Amino acid sequence: MRIDIITVSPELIKSPFEFSIIKRAIDKKLVEVHFHDLRTYALNDYGKIDDYQFGGGAGMVLMVEPIDKCISKLKAERDYDEIIYMTPDAATLNQQTANTLSLKENMIILCGHYKGVDQRVRDLFITKEISIGDYVLSGGELGAAVLCDSIIRLIPGVLGDETSALTDSFQDDLLSPPVYTRPSDYKELKVPEILLSGNFPKIEEWRNDQALERTKKIRPDLLED
Ligand code: ADE
Repeated sequence: MRIDIITVSPELIKSPFEFSIIKRAIDKKLVEVHFHDLRTYALNDYGKIDDYQFGGGAGMVLMVEPIDKCISKLKAERDYDEIIYMTPDAATLNQQTANTLSLKENMIILCGHYKGVDQRVRDLFITKEISIGDYVLSGGELGAAVLCDSIIRLIPGVLGDETSALTDSFQDDLLSPPVYTRPSDYKELKVPEILLSGNFPKIEEWRNDQALERTKKIRPDLLED
C-alpha cells in the first residue's frame, strides 16, 4: 500500500509514523507513506495557498490551484484507488471503512485547514470524505493520522499475531471483553476463575458474553440492527 498525505503542516503529522506498529509496517515495506507540503505548490514566493471566502465570513479557505497542482502531479505518476478529504462535515470513520480501505493499493489523503478547502477541490478530485468524530479539530492532520493507523494495522503481516486485528473491538460490532494479565490477584481483585481454567471453549463463551454485556451497557447503538 502507498499513502500520500497532502498537508500544510507536514511536521505535525509525521511523528505517529515513527513509532510502534506503524513504524514496523513501514520498515517491513508493507506500506509507504509520503508527505507533501502544500506550500511547495503555492501560487507565489510568499507561499500563498489560501484566501478569504467569497461572500464574506471569518476564516481562510485553501485555494483550488495549489491542491490541483499537487494532486495532478501525483495522479500523473500512478493510479489512485481513493482520494480522501479529512473534514468534520463528512460521515464518521468506523471499523467497516477502515477494513475496506485496508484493501486498497494507493491512496491520497488531503488534510483540510483553516475554514476548509474550496468546494471545487471536493467536486473535482475527492472520492471519499471522512470525519473522525463530531467535533472540530484545527486541521485534518490528526484525523489523517488516526485514519492511517486504523488502516495500516489491518494490512496482513503488520500485526505479529494474525488474529489480533480480527478480535479488536468493533470487528463484529461488539466492544472487546475485559483482559487480564499477571498477577491473578491484586488488592483483592481476582482474575475471573474461568480465564485460569485452561478450558478454551468455555473461555471463548465467557468472552462472547462479556463482549455482549459491555456493548449493551456502553454502546447499545451498535446492537440496534
Ligand atoms: N478536520 C477538522 N475536524 C476534523 C474531524 N473531526 N475529522 C476529520 N478532519 C477534521
